[in-house]
Amino acid sequence: MEKTIVVYFSHSGMNYAKGKIVRLEKGNTKAAAEKIAKMIGAPLAELKEAEEYPDGYRECVGRSRKELQENARPALKGTADVSGYENIILGYPNWCGTMPMPVWTFLESADFSGKKIYPFCTNEGSGTGRSVQDLQKLCPHAQIGEALSVCGSDVESSDALLKSWLQRNGF
Ligand SMILES: Cc1cc2nc3c(=O)[nH]c(=O)nc-3n(C[C@H](O)[C@H](O)[C@H](O)COP(=O)(O)O)c2cc1C
Repeated sequence: MEKTIVVYFSHSGMNYAKGKIVRLEKGNTKAAAEKIAKMIGAPLAELKEAEEYPDGYRECVGRSRKELQENARPALKGTADVSGYENIILGYPNWCGTMPMPVWTFLESADFSGKKIYPFCTNEGSGTGRSVQDLQKLCPHAQIGEALSVCGSDVESSDALLKSWLQRNGF
């Protein structure tokens, strides 16, 4: 399939994995996004918040919860130009049941009409949560493809899962 870009948001630093707080030098979603981009030979773009999230897990959860409650749209200092692409493979972690709010900022910043978005969501047990419904609401004129849930702490061994999802969806 042509004209595909992989866009992701990911947070390195302290995180929750299999009941423990651990330090991630590289975020789980970033690791999965890099694998996907390599598998299909697609370009990769990172969404980055302008005001960095705290390193500490609890602090980060606190801020993300507040942003969700306030329906905030945090500014981005890194984004993606999707204008030339038909398909967007969109990766994000599950934060408090849905996409981190910087992803909402991104989804409202571009025109996704007629494009197809394939979401993949890394998480520690909540699956994709409400993220796919939220995505469809934010991009009513995009087609949303099959969403994939990936266990964040198992990303390193997720090649087969990622490959079969990509193949099922024609990539
Ligand atoms: C702020 C925050 C909120 C989170 N909320 C959830 C959640 O509601 N459900 C869940 O299963 N995992 C949750 N997690 C765990 C992440 O979804 C999981 O570790 C993910 O793989 C992190 O991806 P990243 O390293 O690319 O940021 C949360 C993690 C953080 C930092």
